Amino acid sequence: MTTFTNILIIGATGFFGSLVLETFEKDGGFNLTLLQRASSKSRLPDHLKIITIADSYPTEELVAAFKGQDVIVNCMTTLSVKDQYRMIDAAIATGAKRYVASEYGLNNTNPKAQGLNSLFATKGEIQSYLRAKAAEGQIEWMSISCGIWIKWGMAANFTGMHVREQRFVFWDDGAGYFSCTTEENTAAGLLQALKMPEETKNTNVFLSDFATTQKQLLEAIERIQGVRYKTESINSENFIEEKKEAERQGDESATFALIETGFVTGNYGGHLEKEGVIMNEKLGLPKRTLDEVVAESLKSMGLL
Ligand SMILES: NC(=O)c1ccc[n+]([C@@H]2O[C@H](COP(=O)([O-])OP(=O)(O)OC[C@H]3O[C@@H](n4cnc5c(N)ncnc54)[C@H](OP(=O)(O)O)[C@@H]3O)[C@@H](O)[C@H]2O)c1
Ligand SMILES: *[C@@H]1O[C@H](CO)[C@@H](O)[C@H](O)[C@H]1NC(C)=O
Ligand SMILES: *[C@@H]1O[C@H](CO)[C@@H](O)[C@H](O)[C@H]1NC(C)=O
Ligand SMILES: *[C@@H]1O[C@H](CO)[C@@H](O)[C@H](O)[C@H]1NC(C)=O
Repeated sequence: MTTFTNILIIGATGFFGSLVLETFEKDGGFNLTLLQRASSKSRLPDHLKIITIADSYPTEELVAAFKGQDVIVNCMTTLSVKDQYRMIDAAIATGAKRYVASEYGLNNTNPKAQGLNSLFATKGEIQSYLRAKAAEGQIEWMSISCGIWIKWGMAANFTGMHVREQRFVFWDDGAGYFSCTTEENTAAGLLQALKMPEETKNTNVFLSDFATTQKQLLEAIERIQGVRYKTESINSENFIEEKKEAERQGDESATFALIETGFVTGNYGGHLEKEGVIMNEKLGLPKRTLDEVVAESLKSMGLL
């Protein structure tokens, strides 16, 4: 049976990567190495093996860093995911067994997702690239689709949640279903998936703690906080048209607005229960409810 021992993490200083690092360290079953960019400001713990790389992730440095690694786990930032083509090639060149893409979103192979914004398109294309390499027997791959991280989203004023202003923005009627997974279950799911190499080989692993709607989300926030929010609503059709035009003009905030739209409306591959098999149970992840997650998120912002 395959087992993975040597794991290299890219982006371990980031929001999600730092949680992955913590989760894998706590498990203790892996030999971890971290790849950090030269300009990175964050400090990683001294007892860990850290390889510093030039910010542009040059191919020769990637190949040197990946030598001897079984798995490359990528947690790099949203707008740099295109760098992954060279990372995948470097992983193949060094004989790494598996490449885990920086995905952690919705079903980006869904053509509706790909048509919505440049990020979903790129992430979907990277999956296609990995599928092709796997079909040629060059490398195994895996990615995790987890839907929305509510705690992250609340802090980022994402998906209509403007909790500091007690304001909530609906996309249309706010009745579309979308999937959510906690950050903790996403990191734990990634770890458990690597401990089941055969079952998770060459798959986009779908995680969902629950599916909900914006209406249900606001109802939970108001009830738990004991506050009434101001609400407003945007017309997603007009919004998408406007933001796509802005994205064409190079406006990065428009890309984020379209990412948000994709997640929250549930019409672009974000309702994972409709897209494929949810693996939470198989991976032994604890069950989480909307109320628990909303309460924890409000607490993390000092609002409860
Ligand atoms: N499902 C959701 O709700 C959700 C929410 C947010 C993000 N995501 C996804 O999760 C993944 C990780 O996102 P994140 O928000 O955790 O990432 P992040 O904190 O913004 O960045 C992660 C790391 O990427 C590395 N990096 C590489 N190139 C970079 C560059 N040009 N500028 C800045 N950092 C760079 C940095 O590591 P070093 O400094 O160590 O080199 C950084 O710490 C992405 O695929 C993202 O799209 C999903
Ligand atoms: C752990 O990883 C490092 C590379 O960062 C390698 O030098 C070392 O041999 C690995 N240890 C084991 C037991 O594989
Ligand atoms: C994702 O979307 C594609 C295209 O609609 C579909 O074929 C696939 O079954 C969906 N689910 C997964 C797990 O990729
Ligand atoms: C979210 O909105 C609040 C209040 O308008 C603002 O202070 C904060 O900086 C915003 N956070 C982000 C990450 O944009």
